[in-house]
Amino acid sequence: MTSQSHFDLSGEEPTCATEGVWLSCIACGEEFAPFETVRYVCDDCDGLLEVRYADLPTWEDFDGRGVWRYDAALPFETGVSLPEGATPLHDVPRLESSIGVDRLRVKHEGMNPTGSFKDRGMTVGVRVAEQMGVERLACASTGNTSAALSAYGSRAGLETLVLLPQGKVAAGKVAQASLHGARILEVDGNFDTCLDIVGDLAERGDVYLLNSLNPFRLEGQKTIGLEILEQFRDEEESYPDRIVLPVGNAGNTAALYKCLRELVASSALGDADMPKLTGVQAEGAAPMVEAIEDGRAETRRWDSVETSATAIRIGNPVNAPKALPGIRETGGTAVAVTDGEIKAAQRELAREGVGVEPASAASIAGLRSLREEGVVTADEQVVCLTTGHLLKDPEAAVEAGTEPEAVPGTTQGVRDYLELK
Ligand code: F0G
Repeated sequence: MTSQSHFDLSGEEPTCATEGVWLSCIACGEEFAPFETVRYVCDDCDGLLEVRYADLPTWEDFDGRGVWRYDAALPFETGVSLPEGATPLHDVPRLESSIGVDRLRVKHEGMNPTGSFKDRGMTVGVRVAEQMGVERLACASTGNTSAALSAYGSRAGLETLVLLPQGKVAAGKVAQASLHGARILEVDGNFDTCLDIVGDLAERGDVYLLNSLNPFRLEGQKTIGLEILEQFRDEEESYPDRIVLPVGNAGNTAALYKCLRELVASSALGDADMPKLTGVQAEGAAPMVEAIEDGRAETRRWDSVETSATAIRIGNPVNAPKALPGIRETGGTAVAVTDGEIKAAQRELAREGVGVEPASAASIAGLRSLREEGVVTADEQVVCLTTGHLLKDPEAAVEAGTEPEAVPGTTQGVRDYLELK
């Protein structure tokens, strides 16, 4: 069981640090040099690693636009950039009133260069890969990570290898991974099997792993939280009470929690201002929800998972030891939604002009469900995270949208069909 004390950010800079940056194990507290040796987990106990800094920034230290605006909170000043971040925080007035909360904004991460939040992690992760001098980058993916890795790896001039669960990745994502030049291996198994395999390859030194087990990727994803807080504060003159997000491997949940802890540690944010982190999973792939409901410190691996939201079709969330304390310590919760609820939410968002892929719509579906249960109250100010763009999964979009209708190729034929007088 992970001890809460190893989440403490107030420790002294260890001698292994390079320019104020080091790695620390969240399970046993062991500290490691950041860039000399490639490591993803603790040498001593296999616990998850976190990036630590001697100096934590406050709001005045941020300048510029996008992910690298927050370089004071990152291990480098810049990276392989397309550029990413600076995504919109949409108003969705009809959803706000139909769900029944005081304020609802949607942070649309589908507006990143490859159409998902993964770009924020990749710009930092690939920068670290360059630092380490590796040649071949790899990831397991339900699709979006592979699209981002393929684009950022190619831009850096590095070889990329992606392992995808055969037949379970949306068309837009495979198209991106393919055209940006990754070698695509379609594995006979689900995402968790792909991650097991790529983890083995990484351990043998065959590849540099760019899944969210890599602590540097989560540093980039932390900037989602920084942006939400800055944008919301500037436009609403307060911080949101709650951030609702879809959960798969729980990397984003872990990254948002780290963002909040660092801001509290630098006194940029009060303890009481931490938004409640609220995770949403699909009913057919909900090990995090199960762990929250059962009060467990770890998730149980679900060997069989199914959902039409293929991006979050994950049964063994590797970042659970970082994410579960985040949900609990911020007073948040986790909830499961059906594929039908996800589809309805995808349609509702689209009718407000916000086009997202199914997994993204889970955040709205989850908020609606929690509001109906009374867990979320009417006075709350909420930000829902939508993680990927509508065009990632064209088939799901067509299924949730209106049917094309065949008409004759003449104006009169069209007018007659529409029964125009
Ligand atoms: N939403 C989308 C669109 C995703 O692609 C993912 C994860 C998530 C949510 C869940 O985020 O893992 O941080 O909890 N996609 C990964 C991939 C697994 O391979 O693209 P998480």
